[in-house]
Amino acid sequence: MIDVSMQYLGMKLNGPIVVAATPLSESIDNIRHMEDAGAAAVVLTSLFEEQLELESRTLDEDLSRGTDSFAESLDFLPDLHDYRVTHDGYLEHLRQAREAAGIPIVASLNGATPGGWVRFAREMEQAGAHAIELNTFALATDRSQTSAQMELRLLELVENVCKAVKIPVAVKLTQSFTSLPNLCARLEEVGARGMVFFNRFYQPDFDIEALEVRPTLHFSTPSELLPRLHWTAILYGHLNCDIAITGGVHSAEDVLKSIMAGGSVTQVASALHIHGIEHIARVLADLRYWLEKHEYTSLGEIRGCLSRRSVPDTSPYDRGNYIKTLSSYSLRQTVAAF
Ligand SMILES: Cc1cc2nc3c(=O)[nH]c(=O)nc-3n(C[C@H](O)[C@H](O)[C@H](O)COP(=O)(O)O)c2cc1C
Repeated sequence: MIDVSMQYLGMKLNGPIVVAATPLSESIDNIRHMEDAGAAAVVLTSLFEEQLELESRTLDEDLSRGTDSFAESLDFLPDLHDYRVTHDGYLEHLRQAREAAGIPIVASLNGATPGGWVRFAREMEQAGAHAIELNTFALATDRSQTSAQMELRLLELVENVCKAVKIPVAVKLTQSFTSLPNLCARLEEVGARGMVFFNRFYQPDFDIEALEVRPTLHFSTPSELLPRLHWTAILYGHLNCDIAITGGVHSAEDVLKSIMAGGSVTQVASALHIHGIEHIARVLADLRYWLEKHEYTSLGEIRGCLSRRSVPDTSPYDRGNYIKTLSSYSLRQTVAAF
């Protein structure tokens, strides 16, 4: 039997497929189903910082000390009843998930400021979370805000949470950082045990008839995997912490590529919304088939084999690739024109 177990956040997982934060895990039956289908762990949906603030009815200083535009944007945030679960409800669900499932349950906090919600990370730990994933989506909309300030705020937030709990903390990042390797190294220094690459941007669309800006959520496609593979491959071997890949993982091929880039695990959401939870079992069967066909005995053997430090020619990962790709495209175009 091929060994597909992987290490992630200090835990031995029985496979490389973790269920990403999605409303699917809001049902205990679904979590059981995920485990039966072969999920190695489940990340619960996020509890949002803004929700905690609304619940306590005391917007703390951290929140208001943000940009003016952020303060203004609070007017447009959902009301409390728009959030699916209260924070007590979240903790209760976490406890029930722990009882119902034999696989690790990761709690998720979504925030952008180092406010009082660090307390909640402790409560998640007490409720039995095996780990915490911090979704740190912050958007710069104020011209006076520098990238250095944003990074410092993120580091402060992560450090506060890491100091508050003993369980491992992973940080789910956006790819919009100028020097991701440096940021990841500093996140590691303040205690992060894992990086989750990457948050998807949910840009609003325009309704040109109603003259309205509308939130949109499209499920991912495998093409979104490429920037995740690229950054994982660059960072593999240069960090001590684990990398989870989320965004565009739909098939066994996507899982294999993610592990070959250097990922420890993959996280899936869209594919489960599209094909159902059972899809995990199909992906795992295809994965085992591929490994067997290529005479591997464990998934760990291929980890990082296509990372930047493992390939003889690193140019595909560097600036050279950019130049090569663009120039070969214009050559083809020129030939086609004749
Ligand atoms: C309906 C839906 C709800 C989501 N909710 C959350 C969330 O609460 N917290 C979070 O960190 N990510 C959330 N995500 C993002 C997923 O966890 C995942 O990172 C992203 O969808 C990329 O993976 P995919 O390509 O497999 O969909 C959500 C995604 C979907 C589709």
